[in-house]
Parts: sequence; C-alpha cells; structure tokens
Amino acid sequence: MIQLSPSILSADFSNLLEEIREVERAGAHLLHIDVMDGHFVPNISIGPLILESLRNKLTIPLDVHLMIENPDQYIEKFSTDNTKIITVHSEACLHLNRTIQAIKMLGHKAGISLNPATPIHTLDYVWNDIDVVLIMSVNPGFGGQSFIKDMLGKISDVKNEIDARGLNIDIEVDGGIKLDNVREVIEAGANVIVAGSALFGSEDVYGNTIRFLEAMKKPLRQIKDNKR
Ligand code: DX5
Ligand code: ZN
Repeated sequence: MIQLSPSILSADFSNLLEEIREVERAGAHLLHIDVMDGHFVPNISIGPLILESLRNKLTIPLDVHLMIENPDQYIEKFSTDNTKIITVHSEACLHLNRTIQAIKMLGHKAGISLNPATPIHTLDYVWNDIDVVLIMSVNPGFGGQSFIKDMLGKISDVKNEIDARGLNIDIEVDGGIKLDNVREVIEAGANVIVAGSALFGSEDVYGNTIRFLEAMKKPLRQIKDNKR
C-alpha cells in the first residue's frame, strides 16, 4: 500500500495540533516528525517534549526521522505507544547494526536514511535487518527545497535491490515532493511519501492533503495529459 506521511516541519507551530488533525482527518497514514539537532544538520527543530505532549491527543502512527548525531542516545525518548517507525541516518551511525537492533528491541520498524550523495551499498550488510529505507531527495535540514532529480534513479536502484533479495522493505522518499512529481516518485518505486510544504504551506491543510492523496493514485500519463 502507498502511504502518505505529512512532515510537520512546515506546519504552523502555533497551531500544531489543529493542523495535524487536518491531515489526520483527510486520511494521511503516518505523521512524519523531523528531529534536527543543529549538528548533523544545520537546523534545530522538534524534540521529545513536543512529541510527549502531542501523542495522547493523536491516533495517527508516528514516523520519526532522526537527523541527529549519536542517535542511540535518544532512540528511547522517541519510543512511544504511537511510534511506528524510527529512522536514523546511516551517516550518523558508527555502529549501524547495533542501532537497528536497539530500535527493533523497542518494538518499532527500523528505518535507515541515506543522504542524497550516500551510496545504497552502505546497506549491503544490513538489508536483512531493516524495515524501511528513507531516501533523502533533498539535503536534510530544511523544508521547501527542490527535489533532486537524480534521486529517481536511486529510488529504482533501491527497489531493484530489495526485489532481487526478495525482501519486504518500505521505500520512503523525503524532500521536495509536490503534486506534480509525486507520481514519478511512486513509479520509481517509493511506497511511503513524505510531504511537508506541499501540505502545510498554505491555509487549506485538509484540502491540500485530499488533493495529494488523489494525485498519489493517478497514473503519471493522466497527470501529463491534464497539463496539455
Ligand atoms: C528535510 C526533512 C523533510 C522536509 C520535507 O530535512 O527531512 O521531511 O521537511 O519537506 P518538503 O516536503 O517541504 O521538502
Ligand atoms: Zn524528514
């Protein structure tokens, strides 16, 4: 199943709970939480305290994206009853296998994220242990950046690798996904789509999410025909 995971990074933080309820009401499948530490990426965002105060008010499963150094130190803090996926960056993990096991021990799906320039072969010896590959299609740190086109090839490479190994691993893609390129991303092989500014960028968060979910279902050909 193809799932939508709205990233709250571009939400109005003074109205966060209401905006999350809009994407939830529209039928989003997961909620993408971008955690930034000002070291691994040049920005600081959400921490465990915000998660803690939101979690009892939400039913949508959480998809936690840790863009932080020393993730092992903080994994437990992001492990809640609502947490479905915890993703760490391969570039931030000295002992990747140990970190994956720690996430799984807490009962969550273990995700590994790759920055745009990181080769997929980094995963050669952990393919059997992971549940999600999160392909960054922008350099992490900020919402609202443009999709890096070369990542379409990387998504297909990851898909081919997973299929060749006969594994069941989600391919999540994060960064610069909009109404006009979401189908391309899906057709390259992604099954979990992260979208931030495309959903939270304007007033109508509910409508944006509905339109996005619709676009995710349309064949690419149909979208191109509509543009003519
Ligand atoms: C970037 C984050 C993304 C980002 C997505 O570092 O990991 O989740 O917020 O936002 P858009 O969809 O605006 O690129
Ligand atoms: Zn993210």
